[in-house]
Amino acid sequence: MSLLRPERQIAPSILSADFARLGDQVADVLEAGARVIHVDVMDGHFVPPITMGPIVVEALKGLATDSDAHLDVHLMVERPERHIAAFAKAGADSITCHVEATPHLDYALNAIRDHGCEAGLALNPGTPAEAAAQAQPDYVLCMTVNPGWGGQSFIPRSLQTIERLHTLMPQVPIEVDGGIDEHTAPDCARAGAGVFVAGSAIFGSDDPAAAYGRIASSISG
Ligand code: DX5
Ligand code: ZN
Repeated sequence: MSLLRPERQIAPSILSADFARLGDQVADVLEAGARVIHVDVMDGHFVPPITMGPIVVEALKGLATDSDAHLDVHLMVERPERHIAAFAKAGADSITCHVEATPHLDYALNAIRDHGCEAGLALNPGTPAEAAAQAQPDYVLCMTVNPGWGGQSFIPRSLQTIERLHTLMPQVPIEVDGGIDEHTAPDCARAGAGVFVAGSAIFGSDDPAAAYGRIASSISG
């Protein structure tokens, strides 16, 4: 599986999952049809919270491989280039670095590719789309909330950034992340997004598989 497919894809974010039964929760969304699982890594510096590291990716790898699913690692960490090898070795299929997190973006993207992963660049809501175009990533992650927490409200002006990214880099897939549900995903799709990260809308629901299905229906066709 790849993030670089033309079909629209939903990427459930395990940040909002019940970690006491993480495997079951991931199995539920894989069963519902998900083929991308989004893993949010936070270091307590780039963003205040600390979340998970490579051992969580490693723990999910077997489950993902059994369903031909993709592990999409979003690094919200300072100097992400120092962590690429560990996440690639753990089984990441794509790794995203923030433009704001390192002066060595070109090096970081090349290191991700050298480790056999797809290389993504993430932009905070306050960062202009032009910052991504210069770096030539395989895909762009457009933050539609400020990074650091699940369950925030979608920032409507991010639609302009998505449109701008789509104009500047028409061949590059755009992933949107933050406040995505069946109401906000269609607007993002119209603006040019192709990959839709959803955390609380899926794992905050009593029935994650049904919630996945509602978002999928909202962007089908
Ligand atoms: C936030 C993370 C997101 C988060 C999204 O910094 O990058 O992936 O899980 O959560 P929701 O979908 O609840 O906004
Ligand atoms: Zn994320």
